[in-house]
Amino acid sequence: MRIFLDTANVDEIAHGVKLGVVSGVTTNPSLVSKVGCQSYQELVQKICSITSGDVSVEVIEEDASGMLAQARQISKWASNVVVKVPATEEGLEATSILTREGIRVNMTLCFSLNQAVLAALAGASYVSPFVGRLDDIGEDGMALIEDIVKVFNRYSYETRVLAASIRHPNHVLHAARVGAHVVTMPYKVLKQMIKHPLTDNGVERFLTDWRQSGSVFS
Ligand code: G3P
Repeated sequence: MRIFLDTANVDEIAHGVKLGVVSGVTTNPSLVSKVGCQSYQELVQKICSITSGDVSVEVIEEDASGMLAQARQISKWASNVVVKVPATEEGLEATSILTREGIRVNMTLCFSLNQAVLAALAGASYVSPFVGRLDDIGEDGMALIEDIVKVFNRYSYETRVLAASIRHPNHVLHAARVGAHVVTMPYKVLKQMIKHPLTDNGVERFLTDWRQSGSVFS
């Protein structure tokens, strides 16, 4: 399972990449508006220069022709860009055309197994089921990830299952257990994954013992 950061914040991405555990990024219009940008293209190119991994960049159009026009432009901004297209009827049409043109697509806003199967049949490189938003309405987001993974394996679909809308480290554990290919998470969740009080206590005790012993390193 690979880890992507779900953010458009370049400092967070740079730190994740420095840790050596982040191998891609997902953005969306809300995340971009959070950091603000004069130029979408410049921000995306900056992010794509920080990581060599896949960077998902969403179209901001609702009809297939608008999505196609934006996706073709976005795909030229950097070689590691993956265009994010919503799992709507128009998005499906755009995805089928884009994948035939060799443009990689991440089908986003996926909330059902049916949508995921259609994304795979349209040739999407990734499908992004939104776990947290399903949990928010009383459904079981991780059960959907598990279902999609099983069905994709059964039919050997090449589309990667990218668990999105991750809210806490338990989501990450669960996604790993059910076989998600990628989990994209906010920077905060990555930091929570690292942290354990026993690790911090252990480091402190080892250092205290060492210092008190008067031992010499060399
Ligand atoms: O990248 C999209 C997805 O992860 C959004 O998450 O927290 O807005 O539901 P959230």
